[in-house]
Amino acid sequence: MADNKEIVLSGIRSTGNLHLGNYYGALSKFVRLQNDYDCNFFIADLHALTTSPDPSQLHANVKNILAEYLAAGIDPEKSTIFIQSDVPEISEMYLLLNMHVGIGELMRTTSFKDKARKALGIGAPAQEGEADDEAFEKEIIGASTNKRVNAGLLTYPTLMAVDILIQKATKVPVGKDQEQHLELTRRFARRFNSFYGVELFPEPYNFDFGGKPVKVPGLDGSGKMGKSEGNCIYLIDDPKVLRKKVMRATTDEGPKEPNSPMSEPVANLFTLLELTSAPDVVQHFRDAYADCSIRYGDLKKQLAEDILAVTTPIRDRINDIMADEAYLRRVVAQGAERARERAAATLAEVRHVMGIRKF
Ligand code: TRP
Repeated sequence: MADNKEIVLSGIRSTGNLHLGNYYGALSKFVRLQNDYDCNFFIADLHALTTSPDPSQLHANVKNILAEYLAAGIDPEKSTIFIQSDVPEISEMYLLLNMHVGIGELMRTTSFKDKARKALGIGAPAQEGEADDEAFEKEIIGASTNKRVNAGLLTYPTLMAVDILIQKATKVPVGKDQEQHLELTRRFARRFNSFYGVELFPEPYNFDFGGKPVKVPGLDGSGKMGKSEGNCIYLIDDPKVLRKKVMRATTDEGPKEPNSPMSEPVANLFTLLELTSAPDVVQHFRDAYADCSIRYGDLKKQLAEDILAVTTPIRDRINDIMADEAYLRRVVAQGAERARERAAATLAEVRHVMGIRKF
């Protein structure tokens, strides 16, 4: 954690177990960054509150993700691993930064619109546009009390910006769906700096890993693997469950002519195969597809075993780590201490430039 290393920060909301998409899209990449950067990985439990989870589940979810982070190879000796709510400085700075954030810009955020629409039970817009935005805003303001869009959801981007800015992170490895939040973070940083005439916050950017981004598809034929899609393979899935899920994955009727184009569900299975299987295995099934001799059942059997080869050692470690409460407590205590040190220093600067002084 030398001072001269660039600061990397990323977080995952504690809303369930981690899946293969999280693993290839995030965790396995985080692991690679640990030696070369000042890495900070946290569990965004306050962000999880924006979608009102059951209080009896929140802590268990935090613990699961913590164990999954560690089992995937994030090393608490190399990286700072912490829980968002263990750093109260974040909550204070969230209040302060909100004074410089417009409700309009928050309401125009895509993730807010999507989640607010869900909360209000209104469908997706016919098309993007001003007219629809107006109707949407009216809906929100006029919403009856039993259909409420909570203010925490609106200010989600402020909280995320604070996560990043309070650590003065410059590299934030996140998926494409988080780009807009990063863009807002840069805007808030510039705005704050210029309003107070300071150079307090550096502007953070997504981490460029080079190559094309990994997109891990789900098992339901379309789109990417996602918690809310119900199409996930979880790291913690036991072999029986995992095999069953893979065997039930959507396919099609099979190629009728040699060298047919692939349907999306089948292409998705090949994408998963490419992530987890040896190149000659992938080639074997590609050839079988090309000459129409492929049997999807065989492909799925192979795929399930190859996924299991990746997840089984991780699952074993998750179970070991979950059983070691003392270790988990040590990890989060050490992480909180490190994260708070930098957060407290930044918060003190923020309070100072905003004119908050002690008597
Ligand atoms: N919004 C992110 C997600 O849903 C999680 C997150 C919260 C985050 N704060 C962050 C990611 C700060 C990176 C940096 O995936």
